[in-house]
Amino acid sequence: MSATSPYKVLVLHGPNLNLTGFREPDVYGKKTLDEIDGEIRAAADGLGFELRILQSNSEGVLIDTIQEHRKWADAIVINPGALTHYSIALRDALASVRMPVVEVHLSNIHRREEFRHKSVIAPIAIGQIVGFGGYGYVLALEALATIERGTV
Ligand code: DQA
Repeated sequence: MSATSPYKVLVLHGPNLNLTGFREPDVYGKKTLDEIDGEIRAAADGLGFELRILQSNSEGVLIDTIQEHRKWADAIVINPGALTHYSIALRDALASVRMPVVEVHLSNIHRREEFRHKSVIAPIAIGQIVGFGGYGYVLALEALATIERGTV
């Protein structure tokens, strides 16, 4: 991170996260994805980060976007939705681009159904943030800032 070259973060939301605020609000919260994205942008501004945000219901679009950003991005923050639990293709794409990945979940996947306890993404991520709703993305950016400063 420097004055001429801000730290660049790609934020990805996976399948069904476009319905956040409307689907199972007792599980995922009442904030819409637009509201959460606004909070992510505000946090990124405060940290001096450059940001791109994309939501897709398609595994292929997420993978294409990761590949297309391999030169642009310094780090990726991703909530892979249900792909978390089985998409080796998404995991391989994230591993291929060789940059820090932070995995975020709105809900605490570890206190839910057993099939949600396993993440195929976690082993290639630097960390996983779960259970704090949309604030998890802000925590992810703050974690990346700390790592970038070398103070972690
Ligand atoms: C989720 C958890 C996943 O298990 C689920 O399939 C989602 C949302 C979360 O943010 O809590 O779609 O990733």
